[in-house]
Amino acid sequence: MTRPILVYTPDPGEARAYADLIRLPSRAFTVHVAETPEQAAGPAPEAEILYCWSPPRSLLASARRVRWIQGMGAGVERLLVPEIAPSVRITRVAGIFGPWMTEYALGWSLWTTQRMEGFRASQRQHRWAPVNPIPLRGQTLCVVGLGDIGRSIARAARALGMRVIGVSRRGRKPREAERVYRPEALRAALAPADFVVLTLPLSPATRGLLGPAELSAMKPSAWLINVARGPIVQEAALLDALRERRIAGAVLDVFDTEPLPADHPFWGLDNVVITPHISGPSTPPEIAPIFNDNLRRYAAGRPLRYLVNRGRGY
Ligand code: OXD
Repeated sequence: MTRPILVYTPDPGEARAYADLIRLPSRAFTVHVAETPEQAAGPAPEAEILYCWSPPRSLLASARRVRWIQGMGAGVERLLVPEIAPSVRITRVAGIFGPWMTEYALGWSLWTTQRMEGFRASQRQHRWAPVNPIPLRGQTLCVVGLGDIGRSIARAARALGMRVIGVSRRGRKPREAERVYRPEALRAALAPADFVVLTLPLSPATRGLLGPAELSAMKPSAWLINVARGPIVQEAALLDALRERRIAGAVLDVFDTEPLPADHPFWGLDNVVITPHISGPSTPPEIAPIFNDNLRRYAAGRPLRYLVNRGRGY
């Protein structure tokens, strides 16, 4: 009997690249590749393992024999749907996105404090216009979500001399943060921050976590950086806060609807930076060792790494 693995990602050419890096622990396993729901329609009902990014719910519903799903990203909210029975094990990726997202969060923070846009604009006009940068050193960063990504950002921010505070579900203080608040005290955590970075998973508990009251708790000079998921911030409230300059601006890598529709009002706001969900890219060579290790474990009946505990909202 064969044990089919279905590799699915809608990014063109990527599913094949992931599949080529799979190391099968035995000949019983076979690999199938799909990058569209149509291509997945044949192999999905037989698949024992799904190795995937952003599968449509119809694909998940048709995967009736699946026993284990390895997501290709850190966030697996798309896999936590009723179509997937609670007995199916779901694993995620951890430990590799921190460095990427750290460069993103601090890079864009420096973009504001080093006035990069302004200097480039002056250069285009051949204009010598001295104005001092603002030091990041001494500014306060609030990291909402202190998993491995949040802690990586916190560590680097501290190395730059920032004061780091955080918000975490359990309220446990990691050494990277000077102070940690529980989600109930989110507004108190946001109030002193010059930069707020969101690095928490989307779950029923975090959907819409930042609304009008939380955005109003932020300083008018503060920047919001969202590398987590769009729906964690109430979009209409964020648009109001940005238009009315109740916060300085937002650097957004994630949105309620992706790709961000061409007529979305975010595009037209000059205090918004839009990037197309690239702050922590999944690349086949980085993800493959995690999948291959878990596949060996799965084949041997050993515990999987980065297992999602659905009951806790992971
Ligand atoms: C992820 C992502 O969840 O890239 O890894 O969004």
